[in-house]
Amino acid sequence: MSIQLPENTKMLASSFTYGVATAAFQIEGANTEDGRLESIWDRFCNQPNAVKNNDDGRIACDHYHLWEDDIKLIQSLGVDAYRLSIAWPRVIQLDGQLNPLGVRFYQEVLKALKKANIKTFVTLYHWDLPQYLEDQGGWLNRDTCYKFRDYANLISQALNQYVDSWATFNEPFCAAILGYEFGIHAPGLSDPKYGRQAAHHILLAHGLALPVLRKNAPSAQVGIVLNMNRSYAASESSEDQFAGLMRETLDNQFFIEPLMKGQYPNILQIVAPHYLPAMVLEGDMDIISQPIDFLGLNYYTCNHNAFDAEHFFLNVKNSNEVEYTDIGWEVAPHAFKELLINLHQQYELPPIIITENGAACADTLINGEVNDEQRVRYLNAHLNAIHNAIEAGVNIQGYFAWSLMDNFEWAEGYSKRFGLVHVDYQTQKRTIKRSGKAYQAFLKARNECLFKTVLEAQKTIKTT
Ligand code: FCB
Repeated sequence: MSIQLPENTKMLASSFTYGVATAAFQIEGANTEDGRLESIWDRFCNQPNAVKNNDDGRIACDHYHLWEDDIKLIQSLGVDAYRLSIAWPRVIQLDGQLNPLGVRFYQEVLKALKKANIKTFVTLYHWDLPQYLEDQGGWLNRDTCYKFRDYANLISQALNQYVDSWATFNEPFCAAILGYEFGIHAPGLSDPKYGRQAAHHILLAHGLALPVLRKNAPSAQVGIVLNMNRSYAASESSEDQFAGLMRETLDNQFFIEPLMKGQYPNILQIVAPHYLPAMVLEGDMDIISQPIDFLGLNYYTCNHNAFDAEHFFLNVKNSNEVEYTDIGWEVAPHAFKELLINLHQQYELPPIIITENGAACADTLINGEVNDEQRVRYLNAHLNAIHNAIEAGVNIQGYFAWSLMDNFEWAEGYSKRFGLVHVDYQTQKRTIKRSGKAYQAFLKARNECLFKTVLEAQKTIKTT
């Protein structure tokens, strides 16, 4: 099994960016070193049973100390780009000023990536809010939006020369809804009123940071990353169809419509006003809907929804025999293609970059090898789904596999492995899995093909 795209695919062009992705809290560890402040995830991990096996981020992949080797690993995969996030509590001190030691870490990492000719895609917020801001209300407090803008301002000035692409937020849905509405992520609050208000503030913070990033980094691309799963109705019944629509509205449209059209979905006014943020000030929607250079999309799976009188929808399993990954997510590349085409039909979108896609597998290291053939099939199928969406007219310009290496999978702790590289958490030894080798081989073939094209073009120039 290997990764293969049709020969004529646009995805072999040099303008299509391939990468691997990680996030600070999931890999760095060293969470009290060099003046790093406490984050909401450090606090959440300390609550008994909030995270599986009471795992925490104190060591994670020890990337804070092993980053040089990790960059060599990234380079060895042959990717064009690396997507990482900045830990806000590492780089900003209590007085709101930069922490030079934290900043230096990212400067070194980014500098080394540039030296290795790897493009840098930086996310400013991948869920690790400084705890002192949570103590003042976190994303329920409008003030946090201005704090985010100030953080974006300082850090983009400090790192600007090493960054090709800035994303303000990773997955506002997860940060706001899993954290403030379902209570399964930090800070662990659960009320729809909280979730939707937190979401509004996150979107507002994104909008407030945009002009700042554009001013400090005029040649970089600036955007945001949304997660989207394709929502289906569990049956043809009108109740279930309504359930599917509500799931799509609350999970997906609630986030993309404000960004693209400056409004929350109309249907919520009619059927579920309590799912609308209570505090939206005049001008907020214009701030949120400013143009972006790219839309990052993270895709993993699809969902099926049956009607539920209290919550509108109830998640049910696909009634057909389908494949699942180790985290219980359905493997649904066809749904990926449909999702992309639907978005393309619904909105005037900027170019899309797939900023995350991948599979959790119950990997085992046997005689120094991890034979994760399910992940290879998963990556192959989803890359081909992107090819099909491009053929149908969707403008997609890049793909990042989640993740470079196994890491702290939030509420699942270290129990779920998403890496192309296996991490032994006892020894911190990294081992490239079969999927990593397949991605490597695919990228090598693509680079050889690009090289051949350049040589042929040169020959033609010489002979004419
Ligand atoms: C996404 C997150 C990422 C990782 C994957 C599996 O929602 O952005 O950090 O946990 O899921």
